[in-house]
Amino acid sequence: MNPSKICVIGGGGFVGLVTSLGLSEIGHEVISVDVDPNKIDQLNAGKSPIYEYGVDLVLNRNLHNGRLKFSTDLQSSVKSSRVVFVTVGTPSLESGQIDLSQVIEASNQLSICLDEYRIIVIKSTVPVGTTDLIKGILDKKSHQDCFDIVSNPEFLREGNALKDFFFPSRIVLGGDSNGALSIMKSIYEPIIDRSLFVDGIENPQSGSTPIPVIQTDIASAQIIKYASNAFLATRISFINEISGICEQVNADIKKVANGMGYDPRIGHSYLEAGLGFGGPCLEKDLNALINTAHQNGYDAAFLQAVLERNDKQVRSVVNKVERLLSADISNRTIGILGLTFKPGTSDIRNSLSIRVIRELHKRGAVVRAYDPVVKHETLELDSNINHCDSAYAAAKNADSLLILTGWEEFLHLDYQRIYSNMSNPIIIDSQNLLTPSDMIELGFTYTGIGANTLK
Ligand SMILES: NC(=O)c1ccc[n+]([C@@H]2O[C@H](COP(=O)([O-])OP(=O)(O)OC[C@H]3O[C@@H](n4cnc5c(N)ncnc54)[C@H](O)[C@@H]3O)[C@@H](O)[C@H]2O)c1
Repeated sequence: MNPSKICVIGGGGFVGLVTSLGLSEIGHEVISVDVDPNKIDQLNAGKSPIYEYGVDLVLNRNLHNGRLKFSTDLQSSVKSSRVVFVTVGTPSLESGQIDLSQVIEASNQLSICLDEYRIIVIKSTVPVGTTDLIKGILDKKSHQDCFDIVSNPEFLREGNALKDFFFPSRIVLGGDSNGALSIMKSIYEPIIDRSLFVDGIENPQSGSTPIPVIQTDIASAQIIKYASNAFLATRISFINEISGICEQVNADIKKVANGMGYDPRIGHSYLEAGLGFGGPCLEKDLNALINTAHQNGYDAAFLQAVLERNDKQVRSVVNKVERLLSADISNRTIGILGLTFKPGTSDIRNSLSIRVIRELHKRGAVVRAYDPVVKHETLELDSNINHCDSAYAAAKNADSLLILTGWEEFLHLDYQRIYSNMSNPIIIDSQNLLTPSDMIELGFTYTGIGANTLK
């Protein structure tokens, strides 16, 4: 592999940071740019703005070996690079459509510094048509034939991000320039040929076959990303639907999902009943795909149902709290364990835990919450949440305790102590984390998802 000079736009964000760390770790010279000067100062000082396994280690290693730099100066960073990765945010608008303002702004800035040929790699998840928009912006100011655009969607999972970057299931490259696509393959060469060993990260057993590279047109690459997330969301809504049926017929969703998953056509992953799909991506991407369908005259009723089933799950958990506290939860104290949208990350964007808390507030409950990594300051927007320093403090004098994120720490709590300190020893475990019989033996009224332990 020939080391390349790479600029990452949006490098202080989740995907941008992981991409910057990943590309520098495999040997490239990376300058990572963000509009947020606080993130850049923090990163230059070797401190990560995100909580993610291995990030601090890989960040400091590559800062010290000089392969990684952070800057707010987009122009000079682009000028000193051959390949530019765009990783800015593409959040949802109220309508469910994608807010492309960060992509448009980044393209405008990029257009004034394309004085010679560069490859523009779109890693942000963007709807079909966005690359034409970017091309239109770049064409206005830059010299002709000054760039090629490659779509290279990102599939990492928060909580597993670096590992997913270094050891991906596949690399998707969409574009129509064979030259640009072959440079992209050479950038990823140590990943593709599995020759990589990353110190401090769990390295999988080396496989003999290379990582699949799926080379397509741009629209297909973008739809691969959206369809993959829509499929994962569908599995979650599906298993939650089955869990609702299990509760009615005294079946146990854990046993059902386990039995289903052995079928090689089905598999076990994304087959865990719970609170539904939250976080910054699945719901946003599903909405965007539905919008793309509508804009093109196609009624995506099936995908709409997946979304609606997900909305139902939060309400059904709060309804359980009401049912267990004999309907009225106003002024009742509810302890919450877990605020992030999944364990292993500090991300609370579109966390269903926060949605449950808002629903509890709407119904008049007093909420006390604890999360192993979310600090009080992050919760400014939700100042109604009484933030606690420990799970025991959140449970103290509570009328019920809700487990909303599956952090391992919650498995090892002293539930005897929690039992003694609660006003009403009720546990609603939306992650099916604990063993029901253990909790019932301790004296709790316990319910999870998809098994009627209350009868
Ligand atoms: N977070 C995930 O798990 C994940 C996984 C796969 C794909 N994606 C996709 O990747 C993209 C980025 O997601 P994210 O979660 O990293 O978002 P993010 O909000 O964490 O990061 C975006 C970053 O871009 C910066 N930025 C915005 N405009 C800029 C500009 N003009 N110049 C320089 N920096 C700029 C922001 O300050 C921010 O730091 C989205 O399209 C998302 O859908 C995210």
